[in-house]
Amino acid sequence: MSYNDEGSEKLPVIILIHGFPFNKSMWDKQVEALKENNRVIAYDIRGHGQSETGEAAFSLELFVDDLICLMDALEIDKATLCGLSMGGYIALLAIEKYPQRFEALILSDTQCIADTPEAKEKRMKAIDDIKTKGVKVYVDGSIKHFFSAETFTGKPDVVNAVKEMMLNTTEQSLCNTLYALSIHKETCSSLPEIHVPVLILVGKEDKITPPAAARLMHEKIRESSLSILELAGHLGNLESPHEFNFKIKKFMHQVANKPFQLKSAFGTW
Ligand code: MLT
Repeated sequence: MSYNDEGSEKLPVIILIHGFPFNKSMWDKQVEALKENNRVIAYDIRGHGQSETGEAAFSLELFVDDLICLMDALEIDKATLCGLSMGGYIALLAIEKYPQRFEALILSDTQCIADTPEAKEKRMKAIDDIKTKGVKVYVDGSIKHFFSAETFTGKPDVVNAVKEMMLNTTEQSLCNTLYALSIHKETCSSLPEIHVPVLILVGKEDKITPPAAARLMHEKIRESSLSILELAGHLGNLESPHEFNFKIKKFMHQVANKPFQLKSAFGTW
């Protein structure tokens, strides 16, 4: 597994989990912002970035096991997880399976539901398209869905960096991960069991995991707060990095310095 490990080992640990089909470089600006006050780990999920693919069939459960192995290898007993989209699916499944290993969650542009039949069908079509028409056609067709209108027209550097990450993911990893996503289980039913502070972030223009999906999680997680990024689509950390970083730094500061706050006190930002 390929990972970056920044900041002092003595500081509270935050692990950043990227979305699909991206890699750890999507977190570069967050690593810079967080490393003064945290030990920050950003890693490539199996088959993405520079991490190897391995032999096992891809599943979200396997990705969770990889995360726990990484934590064990780095001797990290407890961490805060920050997951975006698929990274959030992994974070939610990880806290369901190993609640004692996590002290807080940041859930960005993600959801707790399983794929609907329509979503599964779309994934199967995407797999078919990748195999018959190639990765570039898939990337060109899906890239615009990730951003707000402002980002897509006004921040070509961000759009190109995301495109690059997608194009650097192999056909095999794209197809295997799409299949894993199509069969991933829901985690909504276990949200009331989460007893750590949770920050939920979502772009106002997120069309993939929209604000309604974030609100559903906020209602079910007792110690959660919800924040909507006005100018962002699905990739708020890249589209509105200053606002995103301000919110996650504030949250990490609260987690480190304050006793538990109930939802009524923590509220919606
Ligand atoms: C992601 O950004 O990780 C994906 O959009 C998640 C998904 O396709 O469900």
